[in-house]
Amino acid sequence: MAPAKVVLAGANGHGRHHLGILRDLTARGLVELAGVCDLRPAEVDFCTPLQSPDLGELIAKTGAEFTIICTPINTHADLAITALRGGSHVLLEKPPAPSIEEQRRIAEVVAETGLACQVGFQSLGSAAVPALRRLIAGGSLGRVRGIGGSGAWERPSAYFTRAPWSGRRRLNGVDVMDGALTNPFAHATATALALVDAPPHRRDRDRALPRPPHRVRRHLLRTDPAGGRARDHHRGHAVRARVGATARALPGGAR
Ligand SMILES: NC(=O)c1ccc[n+]([C@@H]2O[C@H](COP(=O)([O-])OP(=O)(O)OC[C@H]3O[C@@H](n4cnc5c(N)ncnc54)[C@H](O)[C@@H]3O)[C@@H](O)[C@H]2O)c1
Repeated sequence: MAPAKVVLAGANGHGRHHLGILRDLTARGLVELAGVCDLRPAEVDFCTPLQSPDLGELIAKTGAEFTIICTPINTHADLAITALRGGSHVLLEKPPAPSIEEQRRIAEVVAETGLACQVGFQSLGSAAVPALRRLIAGGSLGRVRGIGGSGAWERPSAYFTRAPWSGRRRLNGVDVMDGALTNPFAHATATALALVDAPPHRRDRDRALPRPPHRVRRHLLRTDPAGGRARDHHRGHAVRARVGATARALPGGAR
C-alpha cells in the first residue's frame, strides 16, 4: 500500500511533536509528509516536503489525503474547512474551535464532504478509556455520580507570551478563547464525556435535565481564560473540570 500523503499545518510550535510522529510513521513506510503549511518556514530533517502558507494550494498540489491542523485556535475553522473542501481528512488540534458557531461551521462541511475530522484528544486513544467504560457500564465501579478531572501543569509567563493568541479571549476582534479550562482541560472534559454514555442511574435520570454534550463545551468556552471551575451535567452525570494550574504575574499586567 502506498504511504498516505499528509500535510501538516502549523509546524513550529506543538506541530514539532507531530513532526516527530510523522518521522516515525515515514520510517515505517506508512506516511509521506507531502507538505508543510506555516506562515514561517519550518525545519524538517527527514524529508523535503513542499512548503507554503496557503493550505488550499498545498493540498491541491500534493493531493494530500490527510491534513493535521496545529495552528492557533482562531484559525482552526477556516483551515479545517479549506482542508475538507480540498478533499482531505482532518486531524484538528484541540480545542476544535473558539465557539459553538465555528464548530458548527466545521461540522456542516464534514457532513457535506463525508470526510472525517478528528479532534486531537490523545487521551481518547488510551486503552484506559474503553476499560473504564466497561467497568462503569458493567456496574463494577458502583454508582457513578460524577467524573472529575484535575491537572497541575505549571504554565510560566513564557508560555503565555510565546504567541500573540496564547491566553487571549479575543485577538484583533476575533474570538480565540484560549485558557486553562478551554485548552488543557478540554482533554479532561472530552475524556469525561467519553466515559459516561452508560445509562444514568434511575435517580439521576429522574432529575431529567436535558444534557447535550455541547452544553458542557459551551459552558467551558465561556469560562474565564485565566482559570476557574466549570460544572455541568451530561447524561445524568456531573462533569467537572478543576483548574490546578499555577498562575504567575505577566510582565505588563493581566491580559
Ligand atoms: N494535543 C495537545 O496536547 C496539544 C498540546 C499543545 C498545543 N495543542 C494545540 O495545538 C494548536 C497550536 O498550538 P501551539 O502551541 O503549537 O501554537 P504556536 O502559536 O506555538 O504555533 C502555531 C504554529 O502555527 C503557525 N500558524 C499560525 N497561523 C497560521 C496559519 N493561518 N496558517 C498556517 N500556519 C499558521 C505559526 O507560525 C506556528 O508555527 C492549538 O490548537 C493548541 O491548543 C495541542
